[in-house]
Amino acid sequence: MKVITVKNYHEISIKAAQLVADQITNKKNSVLGLATGQTPIGMYQELINMFKRGEIDFSDVITFNLDEYYGLSPAHPQSYHYFMWDTFFQYINIKKENIHLLNGVTENIDGECQHYEYLIQKNGGIDLQILGIGDNGHLGFNEPAIGLHSKTHLVNLSEETIRANSQYFNNIQEVPKQALTMGIGTIIKAQKIILLASGRKKSHVIERTINGPVSTEVPATVLQLHNNVTVLIDEEAATKI
Ligand code: PGA
Repeated sequence: MKVITVKNYHEISIKAAQLVADQITNKKNSVLGLATGQTPIGMYQELINMFKRGEIDFSDVITFNLDEYYGLSPAHPQSYHYFMWDTFFQYINIKKENIHLLNGVTENIDGECQHYEYLIQKNGGIDLQILGIGDNGHLGFNEPAIGLHSKTHLVNLSEETIRANSQYFNNIQEVPKQALTMGIGTIIKAQKIILLASGRKKSHVIERTINGPVSTEVPATVLQLHNNVTVLIDEEAATKI
């Protein structure tokens, strides 16, 4: 894994946006895997700035989001569908038909997951996957477990994740208990992966991700097995490595 340590969150955002822009410059119809959460927000803002300056063209870009809460409709303000439009898609020239998000209110879970895998393959696979990381080492919503699912699937969220994400809801009872997520296999099939982490509270899990044994207890450690991973972190997240 290539580890790039920059000074602070702002620099992570600038560098990550630059890496995404380079990808799109090299391949106009790149397939991007996208993440939600606090961490990539600055990167999305910087990509919007680059778009406004005419430095980047999303007209042929195709996206697949990592995950979605199960039970939240696309219109729900805490859905990842809503987050992506609110934070990013509405400001750029991406085509609506090129955006893919899992349907959190599907009545056919298996069909939805299989179709998502099919669409990723049909579009040639993911060229560049952006990832955040949970404090517990989850990627997407692949939570620490005895075994990890390879493909897109329905997952029960861990108590830690429900607690961490309750900050976005009125109370902890409102946090969905399940989610649809790309599997670990879906993620590591991406050609290139960039993992973003900022702040001291991520320093422990970053240390385990980079130096720890590969273990399903820290799903992010599987990234050690991939041959093109960039871990882009700030000085605070790097304090334990
Ligand atoms: P965060 O979430 O970017 O809000 O820290 C990351 C994650 O849980 O995957």
